[in-house]
Amino acid sequence: MEEKEITVNIKKYNDKDGAFWKSYKLKADKYTQMTEVLRRIKSEQDPSLAYRASCHMAVCGSCSMKINGIPSLACRTIALQAVDEKNEINVESMDYYPGVRDLITDIDVFYDKMYKVMPRLIADESVLMGENEQRMTPENQTEVWKFQECIYCGLCVSACPSVKEDEQFLGPAAHAKGFRFVDDVRDTKRSERLDLLMDSAYRCTSCYMCYEVCPQDVQPVIAIKKTKNYLDQYKGNTPITIMARKHDDTVENLIETTGKIKESTLFLKTFGFGEAMRDAIDMLKSGKFKYAFEKDSNVKNMNEIKGMMGEKK
Ligand code: SF4
Ligand code: SF4
Ligand code: FES
Repeated sequence: MEEKEITVNIKKYNDKDGAFWKSYKLKADKYTQMTEVLRRIKSEQDPSLAYRASCHMAVCGSCSMKINGIPSLACRTIALQAVDEKNEINVESMDYYPGVRDLITDIDVFYDKMYKVMPRLIADESVLMGENEQRMTPENQTEVWKFQECIYCGLCVSACPSVKEDEQFLGPAAHAKGFRFVDDVRDTKRSERLDLLMDSAYRCTSCYMCYEVCPQDVQPVIAIKKTKNYLDQYKGNTPITIMARKHDDTVENLIETTGKIKESTLFLKTFGFGEAMRDAIDMLKSGKFKYAFEKDSNVKNMNEIKGMMGEKK
């Protein structure tokens, strides 16, 4: 098997010395996973190197790190596919989580968020007592299936910009896990689950980073969007969900009446007069105010646009 020499630059970290880069040279062939690269470095060159890995087959979720700046599983990354034109690879610990040593981070905050969403099925008492059974339809199973495929690797949370800025946001993985039970016909706690998830769902910016980096194709951002479809069933009111209701109603009304979303009306009805005035002043200052009065043409394909609005729960 043909081998190539590669250089692996690892950002090491410890409490005494802080963070520093160290380079290692070794040979890899076309099948060498990054977990194998790290194993060889540790056993042949640097016994102090600290990293986590267990299954080597994208199941345990323990080898999460940044490879060339992208949150990745090391065991799912082939070294020769990851090298740049100089045959180099950069490896760092995940963002967001506090560093423990080298590539190991403390992901307690990830688990804390997971526990907050009641991550288990709460079936009817009669089912638990064996007096009854509840079956899922194949359609219902398909609906929730992908959201339960999470391997708790933490990559999506480390990639999420909202989780870093907003402590109240539950983060992508917890939303996928939480929604998996909202949409499970056997669960008895939908209302309580919506109380936990709804406000947080509106803290997501829909950037799709979680969708991009997830090794299991869990698609957390889709779970968040589907959670928002339950807004009508959510009984609570937080400042964010009040705004969300106004926003949804205005979007619906604008599309019903004009076939398009008029940004100025949407902003005014969602955020109110005071906020709209502040925005108008900003627009005046930046020379964008004239666009608020742009005349646009009527929409012809209204039925098609209404169809794209999607189904509300
Ligand atoms: S889509 Fe939402 S949950 Fe996913 S990474 Fe972006 S902000 Fe975070
Ligand atoms: S949703 Fe995907 S990226 Fe996030 S923790 Fe689960 S498996 Fe990892
Ligand atoms: S070693 Fe288990 S997921 Fe990579």
